[in-house]
Amino acid sequence: MPGFDGKSIIVTGAASGIGAAAARILAARGAHVTLADRDEAGVGAIAEQIAQGGGKALAIAADIADSESVRAMIGAAVSAHGGLDGAINSAGVPQAAKPLHELGEAEWDFCLGVNLRGMFLCLKHQVAAMLGRGGAVVAISSAAAEKGLFNSADYCASKAGVLGLVRAAAIDCAEHAIRVNALLPGATSTPLAFRSRDANPKLAGTLRVPMNRMAEPEEVAAAAIWLLSDEASYVTGACIAVDGGMGAT
Ligand SMILES: NC(=O)c1ccc[n+]([C@@H]2O[C@H](COP(=O)([O-])OP(=O)(O)OC[C@H]3O[C@@H](n4cnc5c(N)ncnc54)[C@H](O)[C@@H]3O)[C@@H](O)[C@H]2O)c1
Repeated sequence: MPGFDGKSIIVTGAASGIGAAAARILAARGAHVTLADRDEAGVGAIAEQIAQGGGKALAIAADIADSESVRAMIGAAVSAHGGLDGAINSAGVPQAAKPLHELGEAEWDFCLGVNLRGMFLCLKHQVAAMLGRGGAVVAISSAAAEKGLFNSADYCASKAGVLGLVRAAAIDCAEHAIRVNALLPGATSTPLAFRSRDANPKLAGTLRVPMNRMAEPEEVAAAAIWLLSDEASYVTGACIAVDGGMGAT
């Protein structure tokens, strides 16, 4: 298992689901983790659990859709842990669960504001903090980036946008020894997936998953952590599915 001894890593969306799983695993492997989420109580609780287990964790309340908040998050990680070596950007919101003709502009702006603009802000400022030192960033996109889903134009567009952002960022960052990759999870057992399924029953009935089960958040986090690690030293600009075979259907 790749070690992260003393590496300073930010995980966004760390209060829940894939982000919380990633933060726990990274801390267990020696990383100094900055856990960021707009859910202040939730992220504080996960950081507390990590610290009680002997890990090094700093909790930050942050809204990734707000550039000042993103700057403050990165500044806190840099000053607490002496710099920044990597990030897993997992914070995201589900679809408004409406057909295209009913989707409001405010709903579109909210989803794109967090999932795409927020990802841009995190990447931009994280990369700036890694210049001269190198590092790696993993953006959590979705299988929805490559599949059209019912009642999900906002979400699909936001996650497809992340792939374009990651590919272009990887090219800009290669000369700075900073790798940038995207992960495309399929249905994963987290609050977001259950909220999305309940709001959008038409969607759930249409997904074919050859492995016939949801992923556990730890299974997705493990792939993100591999991408972050030196074991993936020649991988950049990649968009990797962790979807139980859904993309193959
Ligand atoms: N669960 C799935 O089936 C699935 C599938 C594909 C992709 N994803 C993606 O994985 C990522 C993680 O989702 P999850 O399933 O772990 O969901 P989750 O709801 O368990 O966790 C998402 C976290 O992001 C946080 N967040 C939302 N908006 C934020 C903001 N503006 N600023 C800071 N934090 C914010 C939430 O508070 C929450 O803690 C998301 O980007 C999601 O789109 C999830």
